[in-house]
Amino acid sequence: MKSFITTPIYYVNDIPHIGHAYTTLLADMLKRYQKLKGMEVFMLTGTDEHGQKIEQSAKNKNQSPQDYVDSISLKFKDLWTYFNIDYDRFIRTTEIKHKMSVQKAFEKMQAVGDIYKGEYEGHYCISCESYFTPSQIQIQGKCPDCGREMQIIKEESYFFALSKYQDRLLEWLNNNDCIYPAFRKKEVINFIENGLSDLSITRTSFEWGIPIPTQEKDSFHVIYVWLDALLNYISALGWGDNENNMEFWGEAHQFIGKDILRFHAIYWPAFLMSLGLELPKRLYVHGWWLIEGIKMSKSLGNVINPKEIAESFGKDCLRYFLMREVSFGQDGDFSKLALINRINSDLANELGNLLSRTLGMAEKYFTLKLNINEQSLNEFSQENTEFNKILSSLDEWIDKMQPSRYLEELWKVFGLANMMVARYEPWVLMKNGQSERVQSLLVLLCNILIKGALALYPIMPEKSAEILDVFSIKPESNMYDFFITQNKFILNLELKKIGAIFPKVEIEILQEEQKQESNLKQQDQLIDIADFKKLDIRIATILEAEYVSKSNKLLKLKLDFGMYQRQVISGIAQHYLPDSLIGKQVCVLFNLKPVKLMGEMSEGMILTAKDKDSLRLIMPEMPVQNGSVIS
Ligand code: ME8
Ligand code: MG
Repeated sequence: MKSFITTPIYYVNDIPHIGHAYTTLLADMLKRYQKLKGMEVFMLTGTDEHGQKIEQSAKNKNQSPQDYVDSISLKFKDLWTYFNIDYDRFIRTTEIKHKMSVQKAFEKMQAVGDIYKGEYEGHYCISCESYFTPSQIQIQGKCPDCGREMQIIKEESYFFALSKYQDRLLEWLNNNDCIYPAFRKKEVINFIENGLSDLSITRTSFEWGIPIPTQEKDSFHVIYVWLDALLNYISALGWGDNENNMEFWGEAHQFIGKDILRFHAIYWPAFLMSLGLELPKRLYVHGWWLIEGIKMSKSLGNVINPKEIAESFGKDCLRYFLMREVSFGQDGDFSKLALINRINSDLANELGNLLSRTLGMAEKYFTLKLNINEQSLNEFSQENTEFNKILSSLDEWIDKMQPSRYLEELWKVFGLANMMVARYEPWVLMKNGQSERVQSLLVLLCNILIKGALALYPIMPEKSAEILDVFSIKPESNMYDFFITQNKFILNLELKKIGAIFPKVEIEILQEEQKQESNLKQQDQLIDIADFKKLDIRIATILEAEYVSKSNKLLKLKLDFGMYQRQVISGIAQHYLPDSLIGKQVCVLFNLKPVKLMGEMSEGMILTAKDKDSLRLIMPEMPVQNGSVIS
């Protein structure tokens, strides 16, 4: 069976960070998993190198666009080499083959009557390389996706007849499990149901792009960067050229972040329909990695360099953390402390400990050589049934693209194995002369470690290979088939010794570092009482609370301050149900400048305390009069 796995092609205006690494590692994980299952997999990644944003970035660096894109594209490539990403093709949109495919696609869409000439007038966000209609804009002049200032452009343009595909898109979405997690599909359907406008697909105001195939005398059109970029997924397979690998296209699994959902779930399938091609099998849409609640991005200067983290904590530990820490589709906060906790508890205490105690006992009692007959395993049949149940349920979690759940289940296997050691107390059995029983138990534990390491291989390829090497086994599909698919055991083992595979990380070091950092910060940031007095904080009772439409974070609250009533928008929707808030008293920063959030006025800010993942409201310890001032 064939499979095609893609990542977005990343813009070369940004240096690669944890967010990019996450998507690529997910794709790599799926590829390794499918290969273990014996599938023939083609994985594609690459860089998106055209467009106004890139042209500007090159100019800012005083470089030619080509030199600029060459240098940054290489940074992505180097990072994937560092992480041993098992891709089959790295595409660059400045490659001649890609450019020719894009021009062919343009001609083909033109030939079927999907492209017409007109004039575009409206808003454009250069950062997102995206057009917006007036109804999509909530704050005048600001991009509804990233909040940056937009340009108003008016230029001659070719259009793609997107509106023509509205019904077929809805039919595809409604009849297929094509988007994971499913709530993203609802979002797309709502968007389409609000009506699709045709899409401007050429630009005349800059040059760094693929020229349309037939230019006219008076204006030079380049192809819209998203049409150019999306086509990479088929140009890389040889579409419009030798078609060498196009048989993979029907089996496409595409990973993206939620920021580019619309492009992949609306524009892309419409382009494919226009070209008479199949639609992707699945779009896997993940959330964002945040730093203290804010999206990581170069322009905010809060990016985390994946190589730095991998060098301090290990590549595979980082991979494990990224896959385990957040449920696929949700946003997650990246923190070193959370990473260290995962390493120490899941990796060192559970898996590392299981391996080292198994090896230790095998060495001490049996000089690393174990050999039993099949019947000896029967006495552990109860545990074996349990192991088998968990191991055979793992596929489901990859199929639903829930790697965190996959790992959670897999860890139950290691947990159960550790529990067996505690329950049977092999050291006591040895003293009582029951060494055969101990030998059987150790053979079982070794088999569990082999099975577990094979299942873990897609997420932690290097560490799994190290574990498997203890048993002279390679992470290959025939082994996966033997140990997991067929659930077989080996009864005769000779083990190789290795050192601690997951050394614990000293948390104190990090805490010390953080303490020093925050001491420094505090010294800089001491204020005097006059500064504090500038804040007008008052008590109010919540009269009404409801969700802000189109936002999953915000609640709209009506507050009673005694003399006044006010509306405040608060980012607590994921922590409190609206109804549960009615009648509660809260502390509100009263003299905050009013702002509009998602089209709603907000006058003031409700105070909360952040505790790991949750937000808690600050409330007076006993009811007080509304409007009471906090000092
Ligand atoms: O959008 N958390 O490229 P891009 C998680 N060239 N993932 C993140 C992230 C974060 N903080 N930041 C970035 C483009 N990503 C287009 C794509 S495809 C035909 C063209 C990841 O460089 C995530 O996968 O802005 C997101 O969708 C992608 O990088 C955006 O990369
Ligand atoms: Mg982006």
